[in-house]
Amino acid sequence: MNTKIHHIVLYLGIILTLSGHIDHKKYPAVAIHNYDTIDKKVDSLINLMTLEEKVGQMNLYNGFWDVTGPAPKEGSAKTKYDHLRKGWVGGMLNVRGVENVRKLQKIAVEETRLGIPLIIGFDVIHGYKTISPIPLAEAASWDLKAIEKSARNAASEASAAGINWTFAPMVDISREPRWGRVMEGAGEDPYLGSKIAKARVHGFQGDDLKKKNTIAACAKHFAAYGFTEAGREYNTVDIGTSTLFNTILPPFKAASESGVKTFMNSFNDLNGIPVSASKYLQRDILKTKWGFEGFVVSDWASLKEIINWGHAKNKKEAAKIASSAGSDMDMEGSVYIQELVNLVKESVIEEHIINDAAKRILKVKFELGLFDDPYKYCNTKNEKEIIGRQTHLDDALDMAKKSIVLLKNETNILPLKKEGQKIALIGPLAAEKNSPLGSWRTASDDNTAVSVLEGMNAYSGNAVHYSKGMDLIIGETSFIKEVKINTTNRDGIKEAIETAKNVDVVVMVLGEHGFQSGESRSRTHLDLPGLQQELLEAVYKVNKNIVLVLNNGRPLAIEWASQNIPSIVVGWQLGSQTGNAIAQVLYGDYNPSGKLPMTFPRNVGQIPIYYNHKNTGRPKNTENNVFWSHYIDQDNSPLYPFGFGLSYTKFIYKNLTIEDSNFSINDTVKVSVEISNIGDYDGKEVVQLYIRDLVGSVVRPVRELKGFELVMLNKGETKIVEFLLTKEELGFYDNNGDFIIEAGDFEVYVGGDSDAKLKNQFNLK
Ligand code: BGC
Repeated sequence: MNTKIHHIVLYLGIILTLSGHIDHKKYPAVAIHNYDTIDKKVDSLINLMTLEEKVGQMNLYNGFWDVTGPAPKEGSAKTKYDHLRKGWVGGMLNVRGVENVRKLQKIAVEETRLGIPLIIGFDVIHGYKTISPIPLAEAASWDLKAIEKSARNAASEASAAGINWTFAPMVDISREPRWGRVMEGAGEDPYLGSKIAKARVHGFQGDDLKKKNTIAACAKHFAAYGFTEAGREYNTVDIGTSTLFNTILPPFKAASESGVKTFMNSFNDLNGIPVSASKYLQRDILKTKWGFEGFVVSDWASLKEIINWGHAKNKKEAAKIASSAGSDMDMEGSVYIQELVNLVKESVIEEHIINDAAKRILKVKFELGLFDDPYKYCNTKNEKEIIGRQTHLDDALDMAKKSIVLLKNETNILPLKKEGQKIALIGPLAAEKNSPLGSWRTASDDNTAVSVLEGMNAYSGNAVHYSKGMDLIIGETSFIKEVKINTTNRDGIKEAIETAKNVDVVVMVLGEHGFQSGESRSRTHLDLPGLQQELLEAVYKVNKNIVLVLNNGRPLAIEWASQNIPSIVVGWQLGSQTGNAIAQVLYGDYNPSGKLPMTFPRNVGQIPIYYNHKNTGRPKNTENNVFWSHYIDQDNSPLYPFGFGLSYTKFIYKNLTIEDSNFSINDTVKVSVEISNIGDYDGKEVVQLYIRDLVGSVVRPVRELKGFELVMLNKGETKIVEFLLTKEELGFYDNNGDFIIEAGDFEVYVGGDSDAKLKNQFNLK
């Protein structure tokens, strides 16, 4: 805006103030409250803003450098404070706590020319202070209501700490257990992933963003980050359109349809274009095709990284490419704030790009109610009362129990007896109070989880014989904790052997520390880290009655254990209530019902391994054929398939019925199945329905999850479960990204995992 117009606008502002149109109490400098819709308010505000102020909205600064602690001191962050006062900052991340947020918000609202409030973002990934299971573990519950509640509670706590925007949910589908961030998503399946994306978005945002305990969510990382080559963090992604449309995009689309307010782009490229520079993803698909009206934030400095990728020669070019592509807000890259104003002045980019981005950001701020009350999240009473509430801890326990997956219980060692059984507890993670919190838990206090040792002792009156077996080695870099599990010292193994010799059952807690998965924690080996395998085998030599409780942020390759250890429980990182949840399951007060949201491979060489793969032109057909799609040194089958998980009871499935055998493509196909609990315990089963579209213009997977139901069955009880298949379930995306449905034969499988054998079929005309 030139100076003349600027003066006119200010003059108008003064006139409006004098004529009573501006409400100083609500809003310091602009007459926006008189308009009846948010869009009109945004338009009126944008007309009052200078180019610099509009670009300022597109600038997101980190509050401090170590991702913990208070807002930056003025001296150490001079530029940021200067920019804040000029109205050149749209939001801050990693500032938390009512006092800190209020301090910054006050500058934005009271010291800047237009008084536009800040949006305050934080990674509220699986809890704020009260920590729920890691998202991958929650996905194993398949319990959408519980998952939604977990996000709800996280939003309540975060909002009470001044935060109004979470960088969650991560909805990246991934078939890559080497990639450390699988812990943050919902696993490998787009159908389950889409349902969970919706549940999480609704959990964070609720029905009304203006409420004080709801916050804006962010679907991340858009897109294809989960397909990072070889599972190496921040690596390249080169995939085809079928995978993009049918596997990667559905959960993002689901998030957009459920009204998620923001998207975050990602660190990877997609077929040669860094995604923060991808017009195809951001403008063409997200904003145009899907009609997304919120804003897209970059990932941390990912706009600057367009230069490292070799797609822009300098910041100026990166800013031009990214803004034109539809990245609206620059997280801690300073690319926009340094370059965009000049780019517009030099007519390299048109101002409408800036207007569009700034409007999208302002709109979300209006929707959050920040213009009505910029301090709505800054209430110290709420901060004290809501954060860490007992009801949140109770819900975290419920969620943790639901997330546990029983992989094996061959000799029925489980459930343990509450009396009359001598039990040893062994392993470097057994007494851990920090690891169960995972790696995304900045706002929680260290060492606050209930350890497995504590949880079990609460049952057995401190009678559990504990031996650590080996140490954790914990180092620390700038903000990432680096954990190794002992790789050299075997001293503790001897003691563990002695402990194991004299007991009836040994519970071994082994696997990954919480800081061994998460961002920038890719692995090339998926076995038990350090000397844990040696410990396991040494104990097995003296006592075979072992219950292996895995701690893991990803699928692990535990082939030896699955062949030798009679009982295996997937215990993930289950958050604040870990020990209580594990103990309740081990002692049988909670019958496990979790199902794997990701395939467990036999070894790393099988990766990527996932249930919804294609048939290939050479599937196994005859016994003697050598030239089929396989390995000569390992089965194609996984160690444990997607959807797998046992119960203490036993379920059988019968009578898979389809209402008819011929349907037209507009019909709804009704499928039903009978399920009975024929075991000795009441229990819950996740009944899963898979389809196979036998012939497609784009090759269809051998199975695709298209329905699931959580069913509670008492001992001896039988229930009928019904599924409805509509176009939405039976169609797919062609290679232009258009959703189509094709006539032909379909197979239907129903059962307790993706390997379900019960089958029926129908035809679509
Ligand atoms: C991560 C994002 C996260 C952001 C802010 C990045 O390194 O990739 O998922 O939201 O940091 O903490």
